[in-house]
Amino acid sequence: MWDNSATQENIEFRHMTTHRTILVTSALPYANGPIHLGHLVEYIQTDIWVRFQKMRGNTCHYVCADDTHGTPIMLRAEKEGIAPEELIRRVHGEHLRDFTGFHIEFDNYYSTHSEETRQLAETIYGRLKERGLIEARSIEQYYDPVKEMFLPDRFIKGECPKCHAKDQYGDSCEACGATYSPTDLINPYSAVSGAAPVRKESVHYFFKLGKCEEFLKTWTRAGHLQDEAANKMAEWFEAGLSDWDISRDAPYFGFEIPDAPGKFFYVWLDAPIGYMGSFKNLCERLNLDFDQYWNKDSNAELYHFIGKDILYFHALFWPAMLEHSDFRTPSKIFAHGFLTVNGEKMSKSRGTFITAESYLQQGLNPEWLRYYYACKLNGTMEDIDLNLEDFVARVNSDLVGKYVNIASRTAGFITKLFDGHLADRFPDEYPWYEQELVGYADEIASLYESRDYGKAIRLIMLLANLGNHYIDAQKPWELSKNSSKRDYLQQVCTVGLNTFKVLTLYLKPVLPSLAKNVETFFNLSPLVWTDASVKLLSHKINSYQHLLTRIDPKQIESLVEANKQNLQTAVQPEPHSQQRHAEHQQHTIQPIADTISIDDFAKIDLRIARIAKAEHVEGADKLLKLTLDIGSETRTVFAGIKSAYDPAQLEGKLTVMVANLAPRKMKFGLSEGMVLAASDERGGPFVLIPDEGAQPGMRVK
Ligand code: 2FM
Ligand code: ZN
Repeated sequence: MWDNSATQENIEFRHMTTHRTILVTSALPYANGPIHLGHLVEYIQTDIWVRFQKMRGNTCHYVCADDTHGTPIMLRAEKEGIAPEELIRRVHGEHLRDFTGFHIEFDNYYSTHSEETRQLAETIYGRLKERGLIEARSIEQYYDPVKEMFLPDRFIKGECPKCHAKDQYGDSCEACGATYSPTDLINPYSAVSGAAPVRKESVHYFFKLGKCEEFLKTWTRAGHLQDEAANKMAEWFEAGLSDWDISRDAPYFGFEIPDAPGKFFYVWLDAPIGYMGSFKNLCERLNLDFDQYWNKDSNAELYHFIGKDILYFHALFWPAMLEHSDFRTPSKIFAHGFLTVNGEKMSKSRGTFITAESYLQQGLNPEWLRYYYACKLNGTMEDIDLNLEDFVARVNSDLVGKYVNIASRTAGFITKLFDGHLADRFPDEYPWYEQELVGYADEIASLYESRDYGKAIRLIMLLANLGNHYIDAQKPWELSKNSSKRDYLQQVCTVGLNTFKVLTLYLKPVLPSLAKNVETFFNLSPLVWTDASVKLLSHKINSYQHLLTRIDPKQIESLVEANKQNLQTAVQPEPHSQQRHAEHQQHTIQPIADTISIDDFAKIDLRIARIAKAEHVEGADKLLKLTLDIGSETRTVFAGIKSAYDPAQLEGKLTVMVANLAPRKMKFGLSEGMVLAASDERGGPFVLIPDEGAQPGMRVK
């Protein structure tokens, strides 16, 4: 029986010797936001790995689900005027549609809001409780007296205690980056109702993580984590493991805790249990033995692909929960880095916060992105960059210029001159074919195995170069002019097409749909890894159909444009973490600020201003440069209204400006005042425009 706490070396040894039984998961996306290109890094990474395992002949199941519980989902449903069950049903359909569009092939895509997950959560919780690992105690938290609910940190807003930026979230300031607790905020208010929150006590249930320290110290050092992740653990142990609050008070969308009416499991308790729930559902459908995969002495391998931001949950809470509830623990946690686009965080205003849906709707080929991500991925937690120019260049030069080119340069001759028949042998001189093209099959397999896809792709493209050099040297187009070279021409093209078949096999985990079309072209059943060494001779192929188009850079421009336009119709805050954190789009009414005297107000000199000129500012994402005529003089003001206004639309309009604001030196020049505009999460900025008859220079009182 295989020891589940085996070292990486042992696991690798098993890989070489036996048929493997593997269960794989990707992190469960929240059920209240769309899938975007940041998410897809992980699903594409996992899908490539799973497809590779299946091609190797291993038994491999890939399960996932929507992460459906928690306050943001509850409030989102309420805002839409529907039940949370209806929201999660709709989003489940949208997510699955997007994943399918990118050829992500789950064996099961389920929901955490399922009977399977509920039962497993109750079992695990019950066992932890039996072992004395659950403790109830009363804690004090912020409470919204209007909405009658406790507020998670992200739903409390207020002024940053450090830089005094207004409307910052309760955990961190987006203006200066400071992190703090909601109690530090100045003038806190509920992002749900706008009310000032009060402190209120309530009983919560805690998982005693500290009691699992010995187990976790051993487990995290036993080869289950990447080195960088294991080092991170050491820091966390140093800081001490605190108890984990696993309950939330009603109202909450989730599973009610047995014997604790009005208390619910915190979403992060049942989320990873959702991996088991989804798999259990698959077992019911396929008649598989759930216990064979999850028992403590299981022989199966279990891998979780995740983003580095949720390592804490997967490398500490999750193994501790499993260990102490008599289930097996993961074989490995594979954490990846974040996605940047053109070297920067994805941004809605720059149009680089691109949804999966818009990518597909714009008619871009999902395999272009799968290929580009594969080029960039390795087995570490480093961030990866989607450089849009490089994306176009890479796909066009590698896939179209090198790989597909081999088929398009040889297939036509076989169809036209040999009625689709490949030769019965290769010509004598082709040593690179056996030694290098086929000879690298194991090396490429081991690069896929270690998730070093970038290296695998580089190697595959070097092999494609060999094929192209061969065709360059043999010049089939010249051979075809000489009837005495017919047999040789057929053999040369047979080498070319066999090369194309082997390259297709190597790329199949990345380009599954293209590979399927190639299999049809070759009249072959689905390619598996061992087919690399099988030559196609005296074989009838179908006529060659165009396999892949080039990317036109204009398609990328329109994609970015389309994602910019989305923002203009609904201005929303950028999500907290670009990867998967729930987006908080609740309707926020800001509380009225503290009272000031009439004298205070009189200090502000508000004037009617005519917008004489409005211009774009080079390099500025948000600003427009306005030249304002206030009767007696003109002022230059940089206003953050670019997301909502076209400069031409503003020229000639009247507005209101603060005329006695001290001039401020900005990156793009001196700003001599401020125009008034309204905005919050519902939209804006909306520039204020006076009623008819107002004249430049009039005082606003
Ligand atoms: O961070 C997130 O997006 C979570 N929904 C991931 C959950 S992964 C697992 F634990 F369920
Ligand atoms: Zn701040």
